[in-house]
Amino acid sequence: MKVFRADILGFCFGVRRAVELVYKALEDYKDNPVYSLGPLIHNEITLEKLKQKGLQIIEENNITDIPENSVVIIRAHGVSPNVIDELKKKKALIIDATCPRVMASQKMVQKFTAEGKQILLTGDPDHGEVIGIAGYAKNNLSLIQNQNDLTQELLDFLKDKNVVLLSQTTYSPVQFNNIKESLSENIPNLEIFNTICPATKERQTALLDLCKNCDGVIVIGGKNSANTIRLYETAKKHCANVCHIQRATEIPFSFLTFNTVGITAGASTPDELIEEVEAFLKDK
Ligand code: F3S
Repeated sequence: MKVFRADILGFCFGVRRAVELVYKALEDYKDNPVYSLGPLIHNEITLEKLKQKGLQIIEENNITDIPENSVVIIRAHGVSPNVIDELKKKKALIIDATCPRVMASQKMVQKFTAEGKQILLTGDPDHGEVIGIAGYAKNNLSLIQNQNDLTQELLDFLKDKNVVLLSQTTYSPVQFNNIKESLSENIPNLEIFNTICPATKERQTALLDLCKNCDGVIVIGGKNSANTIRLYETAKKHCANVCHIQRATEIPFSFLTFNTVGITAGASTPDELIEEVEAFLKDK
């Protein structure tokens, strides 16, 4: 059997950096409790491994339960500044694994707020990244989940203001463009910053190339990883045989009968799980 990897797959830059920082913290601070604020990564296998090494996961609203002088890792999504303040009160040693792309959005919101601009942020209001970025604004930020949120009332309010549009890093580029167009028609003083991260698109594009050349495609990643699920959905449209697995033991038997199998993986899938699947297939 021939096994092909997608040209771009697995960990994005921000998640790789966060995971490496956690492994280092667990090594450097063996005598302190080490916490992650929320699950570090959407991959159960990696999370379990990190838990076995001592990582404890705690939700942001339970910071008061963290003992003083703990090590606390801020995950790639980032947090709002009031969470940092709470951690400082607890004398926590903060390891900030906020993805630099997310941090750039936080800084923009801080700057535009200081300049008195109105900010529109597209994204999922319940997502940790969006909550964190919004925390850098005062009462000058409106969250836009989809076009329905662009009400006439909001457009009337914004039309004579200086307005800035930016986005959650994993927001749909198509929806962002639609929102951008609607706003451009209604708001004369509009600055647009497309802060959508290319990582998702790059993995999707590489997957399309893979589908052209393979009898079957295996998508590796957590069952709760949104970008892995999106890869699986795309693969199903372009290849007759597709499966979504978390590790090699889940490969369906039929895939072992194919001449060519392609592998891709979501942005929170570690190298070792990709290598495990690849080695298993090459061994057949
Ligand atoms: Fe950062 Fe993009 Fe990954 S924003 S966490 S590199 S998806």
